[in-house]
Amino acid sequence: MAFIEWEEKYNLNIKEVDDQHQHLMDLLNKLYDSVVSGAERTVLGETLDDLIQYTVEHFQTEEDLFETFQYPHAESHRKEHNDLTRAVIELQEQFKEGSATISFEVLDFLRNWLIDHTLGSDQKFGPYFNQKGIF
Ligand SMILES: [Fe+2]
Ligand SMILES: [Fe+2]
Repeated sequence: MAFIEWEEKYNLNIKEVDDQHQHLMDLLNKLYDSVVSGAERTVLGETLDDLIQYTVEHFQTEEDLFETFQYPHAESHRKEHNDLTRAVIELQEQFKEGSATISFEVLDFLRNWLIDHTLGSDQKFGPYFNQKGIF
């Protein structure tokens, strides 16, 4: 069984964003698999980098939509994105310095964050953008 699995409840009815959420889950599964299989440090680092880079791109996609359609809850939503971005960049730096590993605790944190955010704040903008004709 995958570490995190896409479920219908994650669906926002906005194709680009839904596709990105699925890809984020794929990347998190890949990181999990690398940890479980005892992959080399360089492989782990690259997998982490991919996840972080894609996360940043994904946040930008949502924030561009917020701006284009003047989403009223953009500010608090952006803050959630920024907090997570800061946390993962810190992890990335510590990993590169050798002072952090990608533990199951870290993996759980990432999974919980992704689930909570996708089912929480992200769900709120689905209907708003659908009303604006974005699907
Ligand atoms: Fe999202
Ligand atoms: Fe978001």
